[in-house]
Amino acid sequence: MIGVFDSGLGGLTVLKALAERFDSLSFAYLGDHANVPYGDRPSDEVIDLTRAGVERLFAMDCKLVLLGCNTATAVAARTLQQHWLPQSEAWRGCNVLGIVAPTVEAATLTPWAVTTPQYPQKHNSDLIVVFGTTRTVLSNVYPEEIAKRCPEAQAIQQACPGLVDAIEAGATTVEGIVADACSRALIACNNQRPDRVILGCTHFPIISRLFEKYLPDGVRVLSQPATVADSLADYLTRHPEYAEQAGDTRQLRLMTTGDAASVSIGAQRLWADAPELIAI
Ligand code: DGL
Repeated sequence: MIGVFDSGLGGLTVLKALAERFDSLSFAYLGDHANVPYGDRPSDEVIDLTRAGVERLFAMDCKLVLLGCNTATAVAARTLQQHWLPQSEAWRGCNVLGIVAPTVEAATLTPWAVTTPQYPQKHNSDLIVVFGTTRTVLSNVYPEEIAKRCPEAQAIQQACPGLVDAIEAGATTVEGIVADACSRALIACNNQRPDRVILGCTHFPIISRLFEKYLPDGVRVLSQPATVADSLADYLTRHPEYAEQAGDTRQLRLMTTGDAASVSIGAQRLWADAPELIAI
């Protein structure tokens, strides 16, 4: 199986896209509802929680785990990939992937193989708005990754405190938080129209229509789940061993560290035929 990890429901937006795209692969999903949201936590807590979740998926024989969470990717992915995994005897041959790089590649229209900026670049001067959790914004990962590919692009970040919690709860406060975040982002853009908008939190596609409502007409809002599915397809072509390992009889196993009944109801709000989650 291929593992997908998130702090809560948001990674299901990614899992749904993956399950549709790869109809013969098996996936295991873990939402850490006992600890959601991650976005207001200090970085070392996010790293510890992410490592613990990834280990649980590795222990279920997922050799590859995709972090379906921008906060975990922004704060923990590099530490896990470069420091933890290489020293970990138990998980030899396993790997962890993040979702920020493929998103930035799509936003800057720069494919993964381009490692140094190329000039003149058509989209180098674009204005890109990124909405994310407080921790993702503080990590600065999006502006840094955008600048590596398009050094003159302008990246405006807008944190959306409280939005992950409100989405998890299906609360009516969601619309007000989105309206406020969009208005602040547009002020930061000096009322210049953004070329592209990144919903840099996997919970946000659940309410993408609200972002579209409060952003200027026609602004392109990037769909992170579809982009991540494209990039996983590319990765699996280069690393077929992970696809082979996940390719027996199709299984979708959805798990939560929280209350399975209430989380399953939340899951069905965004994915009508989502399998029931089980508590672990
Ligand atoms: N879905 C997570 C993300 O993409 C939400 C993080 C949180 O729990 O605050 O950032």
